[in-house]
Amino acid sequence: MSPVTTQISRGTLLKRMQELETLPTLPAVAQKVFTLASDPEVTLKDLQGVIMLDPPLTAKVMKVANSAYAGRRFPATGLESALVTIGMQELVGICTTIGLLNAFSPWVPEYFDRRYFWLHSASSAYIAQHLALSDPKLSGKSHELFLAGILHDIGWIVMDYLAPDSVKRAYIMREEIREWSSKLERRYLGMDHVEAGFLFLRFWNLPEEVVFVAMSHHEPETAGPWKRHAHLLQLAIQLAPYKHPFSILVPEEQVISVDSGQKKLLTLAQWRERESNLVEHAKKFADMITGG
Ligand SMILES: [Fe+2]
Ligand SMILES: [Fe+2]
Repeated sequence: MSPVTTQISRGTLLKRMQELETLPTLPAVAQKVFTLASDPEVTLKDLQGVIMLDPPLTAKVMKVANSAYAGRRFPATGLESALVTIGMQELVGICTTIGLLNAFSPWVPEYFDRRYFWLHSASSAYIAQHLALSDPKLSGKSHELFLAGILHDIGWIVMDYLAPDSVKRAYIMREEIREWSSKLERRYLGMDHVEAGFLFLRFWNLPEEVVFVAMSHHEPETAGPWKRHAHLLQLAIQLAPYKHPFSILVPEEQVISVDSGQKKLLTLAQWRERESNLVEHAKKFADMITGG
């Protein structure tokens, strides 16, 4: 009989994290696409040059361009026409997501439902990216918001890898009490997923704002100069059509604002109605990108 699953201390989790010899990282090609796309002068041709150096990524991009998601009438025969179909915004999201799925694939999940996790992360990221595009103050930050969205719960993958029994134990508790909080995460897992994600991501060479925004997704007011970004991300996560077992939900009647103190004071239900098309697209994006 397997031993009873147990709680883990913060110190043990930290020690296991420090002992990790190889860390998954965002592949160079995804990083390059992200950096290039943040340059307003960049063209699809420049991105093509980077993507074609990675044949599996090229194959995936072609597959996406020719999927029902992209709505093409005639199949794209070359990378160039595939990129035109997809467009810059989606392309960055696709390359980042595929890069992350590959980076973490060696960390085989013991218990955590990885597909739901990525469905949640990818749909949140997609919504964050598109909400940013329609916000005049954040439209230049859409790629950063995608990246913050896809990484916001990465701490769960880290904890699942380092302490699967404790995650299993937490999951059982989650089922029993039907309500989850960061406090309970600290009790069962030694730290919450935000701290685990933060500790993990410091080894990645990411812009500081991406890490701070991602890790303030439950408390956007703590995001310092990036509060507006973090409020937007929190809204995107709450609108996401997919949740994972530990998603912390806010009530539908709660007012949730992308710009605290300003005009857009809507309840989550009102946002849901207003952004229903976006949510629908996010669902399709997440389905397509995690579907293998
Ligand atoms: Fe979270
Ligand atoms: Fe989340």
